[in-house]
Amino acid sequence: MKPTLSVYALPRYVEPEELAGTTAVVIDVLRATTTIAYALEAGADEIIPCLEVSDALTLAEQFSADEIVLGGEREGVAIDGFQLGNSPEEYSPDRVGGKTVLLTTTNGTRAMVHARRADEVLVAAFVDASAVVAKLLDREKISILCAGTDGRISEDDVLLAGMLVDQIHRRGGMVYQQNAQAITAREFWLNSFALPQALGVEPLHADHLADELRKSFGARNLIALGFDDDILAAAQIDRFDMAPRLDTTTFRIRKAEG
Ligand code: MLT
Repeated sequence: MKPTLSVYALPRYVEPEELAGTTAVVIDVLRATTTIAYALEAGADEIIPCLEVSDALTLAEQFSADEIVLGGEREGVAIDGFQLGNSPEEYSPDRVGGKTVLLTTTNGTRAMVHARRADEVLVAAFVDASAVVAKLLDREKISILCAGTDGRISEDDVLLAGMLVDQIHRRGGMVYQQNAQAITAREFWLNSFALPQALGVEPLHADHLADELRKSFGARNLIALGFDDDILAAAQIDRFDMAPRLDTTTFRIRKAEG
């Protein structure tokens, strides 16, 4: 059977059961999956995605206070009683080094829960895109799942999905059967920048990518709330050389080994 490469622009476009047997890649560029990359790079031991605020608070009771950090957002802003919001650069070594982060966000952590039946779940952002692609090159069934924003497709996620599809083709040796959303996402990526930049032949500068991300539905609320710096933080392509992986049994995200 031909390898398959599918993109789902929103979680609801695929049933959790259909992800069984595939490697799922969850994307929420603004901001959950970007924040997860920053947190792991800052030395967090692991991130536990929690669906609801109450789930995070209940789980927190199983740890001593100095082992954990509570982070996340509702309507974009930090949650009452949580130490951190959802801005990537808040997750600094002094705040999260050696800790377990209990993270709950409106759309991103929900998309991770949606992906839980997949054989393997990677968590992707622009800041770790190439490292995630490197993990995907020998996978025969890949499902890229965009979180969207409040049930609407968000262009920032689709742009990254398109970049991943393009790199998987360019760097991998397999010929994939793609769904229509994979083809569309790749076209969207290739048409958003000058071709040498989209193909990675010339550098795509963070300012330029951030300008595109600002046009997305997911960016509007962030800009209105004064979180424009987070968009620039999300646009640092390949800032980190590691791929976050969600263990579907323990439901913890760590840097992928091997
Ligand atoms: C989410 O998971 O909904 C987002 O990351 C939204 C945000 O960061 O405000």
